[in-house]
Amino acid sequence: MPADLTHDTSPDGSGTAPTADTDPPAEAVTPLLRGIAVLHHLTGARDGTLSLSGLEKATGLARSTVDRVTATLARMSYVRLDGRDVTLAPRLTELGNAYLAALRLPALLSARADALADELDESVSLAVADGDGIRFIHQATRRRAMSLSFRIGDLLPAERTAPGPLFATEWTDADWNHWHTRRAADPHHHTFPAVPPAEHPAPDSDFTHRTAMAATAGWSLDDQLIEPGLVAVSVPVRDPRTGAPACVASIVSHTSRHTADDLRATLLPRLREAVRSMEHTLRTTPPPRPTPPPADLATWTGASKQELGRDFVESLARGLTVLTAFDENRPSLTLTEVAKATGLSRATARRALITHEHAGLVRRRTADHTFTLTPRVLSLGFPPLSRTSLPQIAQPHLTTLADRVHESIALAVLSDSGEEIQYTARASTGRVLSAHIAIGTRLPAHATALGRVLLPEPPAAGYALVDEELEAGLRSLAVPVHDREGHVVAALNVAMHAARRTPEACVTDILPPLRETAARIEADLSTAGRFRPVPLT
Ligand code: PHB
Repeated sequence: MPADLTHDTSPDGSGTAPTADTDPPAEAVTPLLRGIAVLHHLTGARDGTLSLSGLEKATGLARSTVDRVTATLARMSYVRLDGRDVTLAPRLTELGNAYLAALRLPALLSARADALADELDESVSLAVADGDGIRFIHQATRRRAMSLSFRIGDLLPAERTAPGPLFATEWTDADWNHWHTRRAADPHHHTFPAVPPAEHPAPDSDFTHRTAMAATAGWSLDDQLIEPGLVAVSVPVRDPRTGAPACVASIVSHTSRHTADDLRATLLPRLREAVRSMEHTLRTTPPPRPTPPPADLATWTGASKQELGRDFVESLARGLTVLTAFDENRPSLTLTEVAKATGLSRATARRALITHEHAGLVRRRTADHTFTLTPRVLSLGFPPLSRTSLPQIAQPHLTTLADRVHESIALAVLSDSGEEIQYTARASTGRVLSAHIAIGTRLPAHATALGRVLLPEPPAAGYALVDEELEAGLRSLAVPVHDREGHVVAALNVAMHAARRTPEACVTDILPPLRETAARIEADLSTAGRFRPVPLT
């Protein structure tokens, strides 16, 4: 039985600009639209960070509104407030995760894409159609400095890519008209921040010609359409039920290794073979078994205003939570199901869905009265967050713990040899006498508390306490940090001067907050690592 790929890859004519260009319907939830606008602007900003006043300028919202929207997003752990700066936070990845899970393609196909990348030592990607653009849903990237590499969630104009013509073979006249209009309005691709501007825009006929070729050949090339040196060859992965491309698989290389023609001659057969096995997977995977949605995703609906704070905008929090009701077993939902999953009233859930539909994040299927997520959900923070490492994820948690216990905190991993630990993040306190170890420092694993929780036979109590570890009078308490699969991937410690506490007091006073911090890091790592490996250093 073929996998039920419930998503809809047809262009929706809603444009590629981050916000819809028509007026919102009367029922749209204004605070939700504002929250979405704030997240879009942060996603496009360098490092996913803007100042509050920068956000005020970018969104055109009043400062008090920006303050309330960002306070609400911070309370949801979707952003972090750092003085005057607002930064995207790992938890926000759960929105894009909901789309990728409901789509099912990454879970079903990414292992094959990764294997091809390893086999060829070239980058391999999977992309879906998003309006008249293409959006990446998986990247198996080789680390090469020569050309830019795209992130999961990045949107590219169809005409500058190899997958574009393959998707365009399915376009209707209305889709083509929409594309011509977009081209005329933005010939240099300024509305596509992921690509360098087109200095000499190609005539529209180039793309129509490439699309006609792709329709007969069943593959497509990108010969340096994005930047000099970057070449790609693509093949559609067809939906077994409709025959239309469910996604497109690409091999990406550089002219220093392969010309575009050489890619087609030498690597296209390998790509086709991989795509055949991907299509076999789609044909033979049973459709998802609907599971009852978890009750009460929107925990804030039950919490009191006092608990949540005066600045908490409930309609924004509820609205965003609607997106998390979708999952691998719930790729499409009716209004009733959304209301049940989120614990929201039908009226509230309906208005949130109408708002998301207007923002292009949700699509309504009239045939069966269900809603599905669109690839544009990935534009809510996913690209910058898909590049964060464990030290970056952990850093704010280390700082919070250092401020709380007034001691030095560090994160470390085991070196490749397995004999040393290497410090990867740290946070210190204002105390004059605090352990000061630079990131990158290596120490023998067996002699340190950090090392002991990382070694193959960890201490039975789940923590290690080592006296005089680095120097006389210094004591260290460490706990492990686990990934999604439960493997120990790092260790977290508090380094204390022995004179300040007895060993017993270290355990009773410090172990609970240390464990809480490890659990917070683990939760973020689990969310951030659902659809991509998170670098540990
Ligand atoms: C990529 O995966 O980075 C990629 C794919 C197709 C292109 C260009 C880049 O045409």
